[in-house]
Amino acid sequence: MATGVHAEYLDTILAGHRRSAGDLLQMLCELQERAGYIDPAAIGYLSSQLHIPRARIESVASFYSFLHLKPHGEYRVLFSDNITDRMLGSLALMEQMCRQLWLQPGKVSEDGLVSIDTTSCTGMCDQGPAMLVNNHAITNLTPRRIQEIGQLIRNRTPVDEWPAEFFRVEDNIRRSGLVLGHALRQGEVLGIALTLGAEKIIEIIKSAGLRGRGGAGYPTGLKWESCRNAMGTEHYVVCNADEGEPGTFKDRVLLNRHAGLVFDGMALCALAVGARKGFVYLRGEYRHLAEPLRACLQRRRDSNLLGTAILGRPGFDFDVEIHIGSGAYICGEESALLDSLEGKRGVPRNRPPFPVEHGYLQQPTAVDNVETFCQAALAVHMGAEKYSNIGTPKSTGSKVISVSGDCPRPGIYEYPFGVSVREVLQECGAVNTRAVQISGPSGICVAESEFDRRLGFEDLPTAGAFMVFDDSRDMFEVARNFVHFFAHESCGFCTPCRVGTTILKNTMDKLAAGHGTRFDLNEIDHLNHILLNTSHCGLGRTACNPVLHTLKHFRPAYESRLKSLDFEPAFDLDGALARARQMTGRDDAGAHLTSEDA
Ligand SMILES: Cc1cc2nc3c(=O)[nH]c(=O)nc-3n(C[C@H](O)[C@H](O)[C@H](O)COP(=O)(O)O)c2cc1C
Ligand code: SF4
Repeated sequence: MATGVHAEYLDTILAGHRRSAGDLLQMLCELQERAGYIDPAAIGYLSSQLHIPRARIESVASFYSFLHLKPHGEYRVLFSDNITDRMLGSLALMEQMCRQLWLQPGKVSEDGLVSIDTTSCTGMCDQGPAMLVNNHAITNLTPRRIQEIGQLIRNRTPVDEWPAEFFRVEDNIRRSGLVLGHALRQGEVLGIALTLGAEKIIEIIKSAGLRGRGGAGYPTGLKWESCRNAMGTEHYVVCNADEGEPGTFKDRVLLNRHAGLVFDGMALCALAVGARKGFVYLRGEYRHLAEPLRACLQRRRDSNLLGTAILGRPGFDFDVEIHIGSGAYICGEESALLDSLEGKRGVPRNRPPFPVEHGYLQQPTAVDNVETFCQAALAVHMGAEKYSNIGTPKSTGSKVISVSGDCPRPGIYEYPFGVSVREVLQECGAVNTRAVQISGPSGICVAESEFDRRLGFEDLPTAGAFMVFDDSRDMFEVARNFVHFFAHESCGFCTPCRVGTTILKNTMDKLAAGHGTRFDLNEIDHLNHILLNTSHCGLGRTACNPVLHTLKHFRPAYESRLKSLDFEPAFDLDGALARARQMTGRDDAGAHLTSEDA
């Protein structure tokens, strides 16, 4: 039973969510923020109030990396561990802070004050190195800023009293196009949509050739049509703002600068599929955007662009709720996202059935990326013909990309599809570029000889990441960082991915330590075959990509690390017998294994 004060704030959290078990994750996030961890008494109280087993609450809380079942310190410091943060010196800064606070990474200080660790990419690659302190993002870290933060922690200064400039997140828009430079008035597109009606909207989106901007490039019009035609008691619209792919941060900027356009697109989708309720699933790292987004929603309600009888049209009812994720990359996968929205662990579902038929609460649901909603609104405003004239035949419209890494002008760039890698490199000022990683770790690594390749579904599909590596970078280390990311983020549901990503990580670490052999390199192909054919979702299927691509282009970076061309066991049997030799007092030749025995 939760006691006194405890029960009081748990009751406030429960009341804020109408005691709905579906909001379990949101309640746990609030509890985590308030109490610093999810303690056993709180779990018991929530279990009794929500009528769900305690084991289910524990299993949800243990799935998300920002939720803790044990105290993690009053200050929880997490350094963003994307390769671009590392290139900007994040590891040295973490060491500095650990020294300053007398702490080891991953441990909580003995007085319970602070813990320091790493976390997957926080989506601030254009202004790294970055960190999260109690889930608040801090950018542009320098040794001086680290020193100041260490002092604030020692003084126990509450995070909301820290200097505001620490938390400033810039948009860094470097090149605008269709979306970033749009001049639509709030609600203008909804006015047009109402005159068109649902079927015509879908027809325009289909003829415009709009394809999803979340990575897979599925035709948006077809998705909306299937959702509209699916049977259900309610239809839903979900905006995927999980943006967890390392090196991607364009949705952060779209939500900050163009939230109105995103909500126009969602309302348009609602009209097309017949939904009355929508959700934005916002990654926990972007929690600073939650309040501005809620304020924008309220302004839209006040202007009759949201709520009941939108723009005075009886029956056009639609409203949007913001849900915040809690540090799980896999929740960007649409079916895992839906489970997470329902307050469960974010594990990808079996498909089919697809979300358009059995989505949120098993009802027809259109899940689309943030940018897709913006593009849809613009396509309807411009008309299919005009929109489809932009870009290339199979990739119409524009693409917003997130440029980071070795270039003087990292940030957000928007181009018509079909732009070459070289053109982007020129515009961001990159020189001596060795490689570009397109679409994050699960995407494609492009070497210099391929810089004339073009962004688009015909050639280089991308969700938005464009990470630049110059000729000072070791591409083996880049791939090793990506492989660690996959091993950390595998949700563990299927054995090939859970075990395979760990084997891959260990193999790369073995190579890095100088113990790798050609046998290990050949094994990577074998592992890829297994992961590709047996993984349940895209994470497992693409986990070997970073190694395969860098091996193809930068094989010497691997070969220079090989110890010998023969097999070397991962386990030193003779070394392991040392204790037995010591106990028996023997150390003669007969007590050692020969190389033939081994
Ligand atoms: C492991 C994994 C992570 C994903 N993360 C995201 C994400 O962060 N944002 C996103 O829009 N789509 C992500 N996707 C793709 C979604 O599953 C889905 O295809 C997308 O939301 C559909 O929207 P779209 O048609 O507008 O692209 C991810 C897919 C996988 C397999
Ligand atoms: S492939 Fe990996 S991430 Fe995807 S469901 Fe299986 S274990 Fe989870």
